Amino acid sequence: MLRCGIDMIEIERVREGISRMGERFLNRFFTPGERAQCEDQPHRLAARLAAKEAVAKAFGTGVGPLGWRSMEIICDARGRPVLHLHGAAAALAADLGLDEWDISLTHTAAHAAAVAVAMKRVTSDE
Ligand SMILES: CC(C)(COP(=O)(O)OP(=O)(O)OC[C@H]1O[C@@H](n2cnc3c(N)ncnc32)[C@H](O)[C@@H]1OP(=O)(O)O)[C@@H](O)C(=O)NCCC(=O)NCCS
Repeated sequence: MLRCGIDMIEIERVREGISRMGERFLNRFFTPGERAQCEDQPHRLAARLAAKEAVAKAFGTGVGPLGWRSMEIICDARGRPVLHLHGAAAALAADLGLDEWDISLTHTAAHAAAVAVAMKRVTSDE
């Protein structure tokens, strides 16, 4: 089984959220690891917000029941984004058997976008 999700976001929305609500905004949507890796830069955070929406679409639930910080995107040593699931998102992935994920991010001056793909390995007796 294969699932995918896509999302695109205006970077200005994230910039505005940070300037209006500061820490409250940043800590609602992003984990400490994401904030540190992105150095709180709006274009990079916007890509991660889009990725969380994309993951929620791949789940088929929307972000509501999962929680923003249960989906964490951290780049590896080569810069490739890797999804880490925690809490409700990890539990749902286990329930659905979605055990392989891939994420891709992009940003221009105005927009950030992300694609998420999830796979469940199907065994011969399923
Ligand atoms: C990595 C690369 C593809 C980014 O493309 P770009 O057009 O400059 O920038 P985009 O906005 O489209 O993408 C940026 C995102 O690419 C992702 N990225 C960076 N390195 C990556 C890698 N090795 N593999 C996959 N994704 C990567 C990151 O998530 C980055 O966003 P972030 O900085 O917020 O984490 C480009 O810099 C490149 O070609 N680098 C050298 C070759 C390479 O490592 N290619 C790997 C992918 S085929």
